[in-house]
Amino acid sequence: MTLPGAPWLQRRGRSLWLEQVDLEALAHAHGTPLYVYSRAAMRAAAAGYRQALAGRPHLLCYAMKANSNLAVLQTLAAEGCGFDIVSAGELERVLAAGGDPARVVFSGVGKTRAEMQRALEAGVRCFNVESASELERLNEVALALGRRAPVSLRVNPDVDARTHPYISTGLRDNKFGIAHDEALAAYHRAASLRGIEVRGIDCHIGSQITEVAPYLDALDRVLDLVEAVEREGIALHHLDLGGGLGITYTDESPPSADTLVRALLARIDARGHGAREIVLEPGRSLVGNAGVLLTEVQVLKPGAHKNFCIVDAAMNDLVRPAMYGAWMAIVACRERDAAATVWDVVGPVCESGDWLGRDRQLAVEPGDVLAVLSAGAYGMVMASNYNSRPRAAEVMVDGALAHLVRERESVHDLFAGERLLPG
Ligand code: LLP
Repeated sequence: MTLPGAPWLQRRGRSLWLEQVDLEALAHAHGTPLYVYSRAAMRAAAAGYRQALAGRPHLLCYAMKANSNLAVLQTLAAEGCGFDIVSAGELERVLAAGGDPARVVFSGVGKTRAEMQRALEAGVRCFNVESASELERLNEVALALGRRAPVSLRVNPDVDARTHPYISTGLRDNKFGIAHDEALAAYHRAASLRGIEVRGIDCHIGSQITEVAPYLDALDRVLDLVEAVEREGIALHHLDLGGGLGITYTDESPPSADTLVRALLARIDARGHGAREIVLEPGRSLVGNAGVLLTEVQVLKPGAHKNFCIVDAAMNDLVRPAMYGAWMAIVACRERDAAATVWDVVGPVCESGDWLGRDRQLAVEPGDVLAVLSAGAYGMVMASNYNSRPRAAEVMVDGALAHLVRERESVHDLFAGERLLPG
């Protein structure tokens, strides 16, 4: 089987390596649960987009919600990426990692006034505005600061991305974006506001998309609007086509970034919009296959109906299986000779939904280290402290080097901000 994450993730004999680092040894050195990322894999993913966009005015804005570790941001900033942010917290991370706020787009349906103000002061490149009331609010905040806010309107194209309903965002029932048939009026309003400078148009239809067709459908709807808006004398500088490209968890075969981008550019050219700047907001496809979650087997509990392999990572460390029924590959860091048995790989959290993988063929013993693959995106960023479990540490592998890029949380960290009542 080709491992998702290859060639950076590979078997050497019976051991599992990420770049030039033996993952079992790394787990023993840093403890588990442990997130581990390959710097080379992230760089290669960014290069895939960059090469496909070469020769075009473009900006690749990494959707940092997928993995916002400072070292990840630093790595992608050095690859020329800007960032797609959804909170003031994410903006502070960009700044802390040395990223350029002039290469940041600010998405999200519920930006607060304080967040708008901070982003204006920092000088972000564009606000992706998702409603008429957000537009009014942003105008007020900008005027109070004596500035004009650069804006794209995020339109909801009402296109089915054919992905999990929780991560589909471009249908008219979703909370995201301005309805397609209200967008023209919203552009008129935006163009009339002194605190707003219209810059572009934006759309994002969902995540873990494994086909090109929904993107092209959305693009056509967006270009229809661009033409309608410009006919009314409002110029649009850039096209932001969002993120959402899927990765391989099991047997999905999503298009490569190259295939997707070339298809988009061909359609843009065919419709006569070739000179426009292209902004993309990929998250998962830049980091997902670059990471693994290492976890140690604690207890084996074979039974008449089910065999449970209880590990030290849980839904609080990696919620995707519990939350979306997501299937993520689980492999042993050191393969054993013994015959494999079917196990449900579960965590110690007090919820029946606390599983990482069900019905997995594994030859395991307590103390073995397992790797959950494709865990570089929406893993650590969605971790919680449920059951008073400190969050995992994170390591970035770079060739033969392994850098600790986030310390393991201590139990004391968990209640450091809490107070006992007086008396
Ligand atoms: N742009 C916007 C406005 C977004 O909302 C998102 C993701 C992206 C870009 C990046 O999408 P990506 O390229 O990563 O698919 N937690 C879920 C995924 C949630 C995606 C939310 N929005 C999961 O684990 O599957």
